[in-house]
Amino acid sequence: MSKPFHILKHEHRVIERGLRALDGVCMRLEGGTAVPASVLFEIIDFTTAFADRYHHRKEETVLFPFLERRGIPREGGPLGAMEHEHQIERELIGDLRQAAALYREGDVTAATRFVEAARAFLQLLVGHIEKEDNILFRLGDEILDDEDKAALIESFKQVDSELGGRTPEDFERIASELEEKWAM
Ligand SMILES: [Fe+2]
Ligand SMILES: [Fe+2]
Repeated sequence: MSKPFHILKHEHRVIERGLRALDGVCMRLEGGTAVPASVLFEIIDFTTAFADRYHHRKEETVLFPFLERRGIPREGGPLGAMEHEHQIERELIGDLRQAAALYREGDVTAATRFVEAARAFLQLLVGHIEKEDNILFRLGDEILDDEDKAALIESFKQVDSELGGRTPEDFERIASELEEKWAM
């Protein structure tokens, strides 16, 4: 697979480290083990900043328009479906944030609410990543030419430069630390 798709697939692997941490936190909460509220927020903040604002943004503002120009349909097609899933994922992150805030205040129902939203989020995002890795990115790798791919990489660099002083490597480090501490 060519470089721009290799980059996006690698980001999926980084997102998955955060997802394994989230899964580990859910297992603890389901088993009645207290987890500090700050950990819930750390995972939510990582997911918001890296999965949504960075990775999904790259797909929506850079990759998908290229694919659309090369004939992959948006409305009623795979690109629209992927964007719709990004939107639901965003809403679920909002639910997670709300549940985490209640959890921090000591609300007794909050852990259950958090786990419910987290399970829905995990299921959706795991399936979403699988579809992109195995279908959309393969298709994109075939239909984009070398010029498109070089332009994609340049546009990705532009998104990197807007990370507010952070680098993709910073997020990788955060993801690894979260996974190491919380995945089961
Ligand atoms: Fe996506
Ligand atoms: Fe993705």
